[in-house]
Amino acid sequence: MFKARFSALSILDSCFYRFSTACSKSLNQYFLADGTVLVMDNAFNVPRSILSKIGKQLHTRNDHPLGIIRNRIEAYFAKSRFLDQGSYFFKCYDNLSPIVSIVDNFDNLCFPSNHPGRSPTDTYYINSNHVLRTHTTAHDVSLMSSQSFIHNGKFITIGDVYRRDEIDSVHYPVFHQVEGVCLFSRPELSFLDKKYEKISSIKVSNIQPEHINNQRNVELVVTDMKREIEGLMKNLFGHDILFEWIPGEFPFTSPSYELEIILNGKRLEVCGCGVLKNSILEKAYGKYHDSSIAWAFGFGLERLAMVLFDIPDIRYFWSEDSRFISQFSENANNNFDDFKPIKFVPLSKYPPNIRDLSFWLSGNAKALDFDHNTVYEIIREEASDLVESAAIVSI
Ligand code: DAH
Repeated sequence: MFKARFSALSILDSCFYRFSTACSKSLNQYFLADGTVLVMDNAFNVPRSILSKIGKQLHTRNDHPLGIIRNRIEAYFAKSRFLDQGSYFFKCYDNLSPIVSIVDNFDNLCFPSNHPGRSPTDTYYINSNHVLRTHTTAHDVSLMSSQSFIHNGKFITIGDVYRRDEIDSVHYPVFHQVEGVCLFSRPELSFLDKKYEKISSIKVSNIQPEHINNQRNVELVVTDMKREIEGLMKNLFGHDILFEWIPGEFPFTSPSYELEIILNGKRLEVCGCGVLKNSILEKAYGKYHDSSIAWAFGFGLERLAMVLFDIPDIRYFWSEDSRFISQFSENANNNFDDFKPIKFVPLSKYPPNIRDLSFWLSGNAKALDFDHNTVYEIIREEASDLVESAAIVSI
């Protein structure tokens, strides 16, 4: 699978070359992406640096900070939840192609036709019908409608997303998101009612017209969503964390919320979420669906990983420097319960450059007389702090 990805990429790359060197936006340049033949047209606006990121799958590398955090999130959602006589868990999808149709990325999610997110100044277009997904929400409708027997409307999607964005220490045009969806059938809703019967009902506003006669269901679903997300955050960051839920606005949910966490006195916006619009469920299940109501959330992995591991710059995640990745390898093997995130140690901005030096000791000097510190001093005098470490290998 992976191999195919790479060969697809090289075709993709060479097409881009032909495309850009010809300097004409000629039509009908075919290329493959995950086995699909696509046609570039005048809408194509993806630079080589971005194309080269497709297929890297950083989130599936177990020793990478994004892979470590993803494994924890996946383990959290893979645990069974009990509802009276049944149980469920969330199925994880982490390998879906980032090239999606504009129907999946925007239309199915009720983005108005003039939404700025659709603009080629914000979004990478492969052609007028396909984009590099701008969020993992793009898979919600297709996953709900297909294979619903496998996940029962309860799944998480993890993957790389692309936005034409400024570049600084916290923004990068490629990053990773997790999307979660949890659909409740009518029987499940009555179990949920029992599960939360002791919890005083929370106030919800912006209830969709379809749910107006069933306000209790909306409250139950919002309660469940908040508990799941807060549980995840505690699992990642420990129990010394405060939560603030703020009303939000997304084209595909109502009511909508944003979550801010307060950790060590610092406030961080982490997540958007809400109750999926009924029209979206209709797209997945048809007009007379019986799958009553669903919550959904989405958040960025980098933002969380930066806090968890103290990584100061989002660009580190793309580093090929082994001094970066090797720092986290111990966390890759931690089991779920005794996880202590490793704190990042800054690297020199220079690439590693290892040199071996050998020399003879002059005259009658014996190995035992040899003064290591003199050698270190010479190195320091000559190369100043550019030398990060020096070690005597043998005498
Ligand atoms: N897709 C949104 C984004 O990229 C995040 C999001 C917000 C996902 C609310 C959701 C949701 O599922 O309900 O900013």
